[in-house]
Amino acid sequence: LDYTNALADVVGAEHGLTEADLAAAAAAAGPALAAIQARRANELRWMDLPYETAVHDSIEAYVASVREQFENVVVLGIGGSALGNTALQTALGSPYHNLHPPAGTPRLFVLDNVDPELIGEFLEHIDPARTLFNVISKSGGTAETMSQFLIFRQRLIDAVGEQEHRRHIVVTTDAEHGVLREIVKREGYQSFVVPDGVGGRFSVLSPVGLLSSALVGIDIKSLLAGAAAMDERVKGADFADNPAAIHAALQFGLHNLRAKPIAVTMSYSHRLKDCADWYAQLLGESIGKRLGRDGSEVFVGPTPVRAVGVTDQHSQVQLYVEGPFDKWFTLLSVAAPDHEVPIPTAFPDLEGAAYLGGHTLRELFQAERDGTRIALTEARRPNVTLEVDKVSAHTVGQLMYLLEVSVAMMGEHYRIDAFDQPGVEAGKVAAYALMGRAGYEQRRAQIEARSGG
Ligand code: PA5
Repeated sequence: LDYTNALADVVGAEHGLTEADLAAAAAAAGPALAAIQARRANELRWMDLPYETAVHDSIEAYVASVREQFENVVVLGIGGSALGNTALQTALGSPYHNLHPPAGTPRLFVLDNVDPELIGEFLEHIDPARTLFNVISKSGGTAETMSQFLIFRQRLIDAVGEQEHRRHIVVTTDAEHGVLREIVKREGYQSFVVPDGVGGRFSVLSPVGLLSSALVGIDIKSLLAGAAAMDERVKGADFADNPAAIHAALQFGLHNLRAKPIAVTMSYSHRLKDCADWYAQLLGESIGKRLGRDGSEVFVGPTPVRAVGVTDQHSQVQLYVEGPFDKWFTLLSVAAPDHEVPIPTAFPDLEGAAYLGGHTLRELFQAERDGTRIALTEARRPNVTLEVDKVSAHTVGQLMYLLEVSVAMMGEHYRIDAFDQPGVEAGKVAAYALMGRAGYEQRRAQIEARSGG
């Protein structure tokens, strides 16, 4: 984590953090870290997900038991029950996995919407008889996921029959609570558990994210080993050697001391672009809150924005370099991509084409990244670079764990509860009411009164 370009010495005292700011951040980091580590055993169980070896073994045993039985795996989930699945597949699978799945490996689809165009088209293209559906919902009642489940379950029954359809469904939900757990009990579906103390957006290293990943051949043990390695590192009280503490301090300091409410994560890695998407939820939903810890109204929260390098250089970077001074930037970077891709030499008399010959796309991509970094820095826009040597299961495990702990520490700095989501729940309740769910009649009446019936 290189934060040189977020310092006052580089981007000016108006926009960057000073030595004094960093000293204050280091002093605040100790208690913040102690507070979350103290809650680890009883409440913040997501912190120990890398060590749930019995669960990991049971996932691998299930995957072995269904190997080569399905051409497709379809995740039915939304929010924290889908974004991590997509992030892991984009990072660790081929971008063309679904065109050419490795032998014996299914294609993966993550359906995180109920747009009828999306689901309707999907129904026309998927053969349920050759498909495994992984239904994921921590609460077990989310309308989007439940409706998808009902639709695909019926398709399965129509295609393969009442008895056989059960083999095509695997559910990940709470151990005891929720409608989905009740359905699992009645139908006898194979199931996995989202443990207590693991909220949706902190669940990627639970069966929520691990099962679909293991099904498509991702090395989940290595992913978890990476997370555990990062856990060892970010437990440490030495601020200078704790990237989660530094990252949280940068977010809080640049937002609150330098008026940068917008946090842009720009991925200079196609593989990591959906990790930026996953992080946008983690940051936005965890820190965006009406109430502070003391119950007073605070209305805090950074606005996460995700961008893709180099694509968004030709879309967003004009704004980033010359627009309002209300943003800070995290560039995700990969030191050694898997592919080089040489650029052929041609048209020696045309300099506009000739200068590229003999270079590689890696060189060009990294020059573009460095160019954006230079432009941002010269325009006094604070930016940091979060770099991994290579994108592997181990480094992605490190990255995700780092960001989870960073956001947990931000919760301490912003003095809010980073682990609830009353705003999301309010939307869910309104949807239940509008769809006529029993028990929500009063809410429906309120909504109808407000909208004039
Ligand atoms: O982070 C969260 O808690 C939310 O984004 C949930 O993941 C999302 O609302 C889906 O909820 P559930 O998994 O209960 O269906």
